[in-house]
Order: sequence, then structure tokens, then C-alpha cells
Amino acid sequence: MSIEVEQLHPLYAARIHGVDIRKSVSDSTIADVQDAMAKYAVCAIGHDAPPTNEQHIAFSRSLGPMERSTRKIAGTEARVPYPEIVDQSNLDEVGEIYADDDRRLAYKRANRLWHTDMSFYDVRATYSLLAAHAIPPAGADTEFVDMRAVYDFLPEQRKAQIEGLVVEHSYWHSRVLGGGPEPTEEERATRPPARHAMAHVHALSQRKSLYLASHACGIVGWPSDKGRALIEELLAFATQPRFVYAHKWRLGDVLIWDNLATMHRATEFDDRTFRRDMRRTTCRERALA
Ligand code: OGA
Ligand code: MN
Repeated sequence: MSIEVEQLHPLYAARIHGVDIRKSVSDSTIADVQDAMAKYAVCAIGHDAPPTNEQHIAFSRSLGPMERSTRKIAGTEARVPYPEIVDQSNLDEVGEIYADDDRRLAYKRANRLWHTDMSFYDVRATYSLLAAHAIPPAGADTEFVDMRAVYDFLPEQRKAQIEGLVVEHSYWHSRVLGGGPEPTEEERATRPPARHAMAHVHALSQRKSLYLASHACGIVGWPSDKGRALIEELLAFATQPRFVYAHKWRLGDVLIWDNLATMHRATEFDDRTFRRDMRRTTCRERALA
């Protein structure tokens, strides 16, 4: 192996040394990174300065088919004008900290709920790659849970109970939970819910994993109260401190996580005073037509 791996949590998560995503990375190193990801599910790669948007996209492309946004918010110019990059900062299109009444801020807050990226799509997200371009002096860790470890620790009767269950995931469910406005019917229609197995075999590690998120709004065929209650109980079990790894960002970090094996959430910081500039690319299970 050309890379070195330093484990960050007793159950998973690692820092990879010996890779610089700003340069062209050999196929064998990509294979090493993929092996580390299969094992650790969350891997940080440090740099003395963040990658450019182009470097970030080029490296991500070597890990799988990429998500490209087709959506434009009317009347706004993107601060990071690349369809492959999701702007996860607290900055508006001219790079100023959002005004208090900016609607986009309410939607960003939904990231503070435990989730896995894009579970509300049929074609799920595999890897997310988040690059730290500016970090506040305190707070704003990103927290993770390895859902394979969680599955391993579930009582046997719970494992039996959830076998075969299918969960409905809705983008709007988590937006409203996060304090966003109730969507209109028209908005709802733009992002219909998706259905996924509650427990699945994580293909890259062949380990059983839970697949849940704050987007999970019910269990197919169950009364909604009962479905939500089980989802909430499992989320509470999964987010016990013993499963949580809190990533303390270093400027220039590129953090990769596997959405099919983990959940994550953003945490608080003084977002009225300090700039936090984070940019994400996302790979998906397969390319969309
Ligand atoms: C994300 C996300 C958390 C954070 O980029 O998908 O949830 O701490 N980010 O910014
Ligand atoms: Mn996310």
C-alpha cells in the first residue's frame, strides 16, 4: 500500500496519509483509498491548502458517477458555479455571511439533523466528498455514525423484526423537521419520496448496515405512527455517543464518507460571525441518463 491509514475511532473512521487529491492520483492509489473507505467508511485526507473546484471534481470522478445539479434558484448567481459542487457554506453569492432572514439558512439548518445524503432519491448517493475552504475558530464539527457497527450491536430480535422492512424517505420531511416552511404541493411534486430497504448488505464491505436518515418518514405498509416510532427508536439507538465520531476540521481537509454505511450531521457554530466555506461533491450508485 502506498497510503498510510490512522484510525480515528475504535469502530471506524480514519485519516489517510500519503495522498494529495490536488494532483493526479494513480489507479492503484485510488484502489487503496476505496479499500480504506470500505473498511473505515469515513476517511479524511489533509492538505496544506484546499483543492480547487476543478481538482475536487476530478478526484471525485475517479470514485464513481457524479451528481450534477440541474436546479437554479431564480435570480441568484451561484457562489460556486459548478453543477457538481454543492455549496455547504454560510455564504451568499457574493461571499458575505447570509442575512438573518435568508430562506436558504433555514434549509441549511436541516443538515444539523442526522441524515445520509440523497436518501430521498431512488439512485442513492455513495460517497460524499466535503472540502474545507474556511473553518470557524470553534464548533462546526461534522458528526458521524457507522450504521454497520450499529447493526452489529442491535439486539437479535430487532434484527429479525426489521428484516424486509422498506422505508420511505422524503426530502420535505427533513426540511420541515429542521424548521423549514411547509412545502406547497407543487414543491412536493419536484421531489417525490423514494423507498429503500431499512437494512441492507453494504456491497463494498459485505457487512449488514442500517439505512436510515431524518428523511425517513415512514415504513411501507405500517400505520404512520408506528412506523415513525420505530424509526425514531432506531435513530436514538444509532446515535448513542459510543457510535459517534466527531470530525474536527483542519483547513484543507477533504473528508470522504460512504452514505450507504453511515449517517452524519452538521453541528452548531457562530454562523452570524464566522465564515464556514465547505464544498461537497457526491457520487451516486449509477449514472443518471
Ligand atoms: C453535507 C453535510 C455537514 C457539515 O455536506 O452533506 O451534511 O458539517 N455537511 O457541513
Ligand atoms: Mn449531508
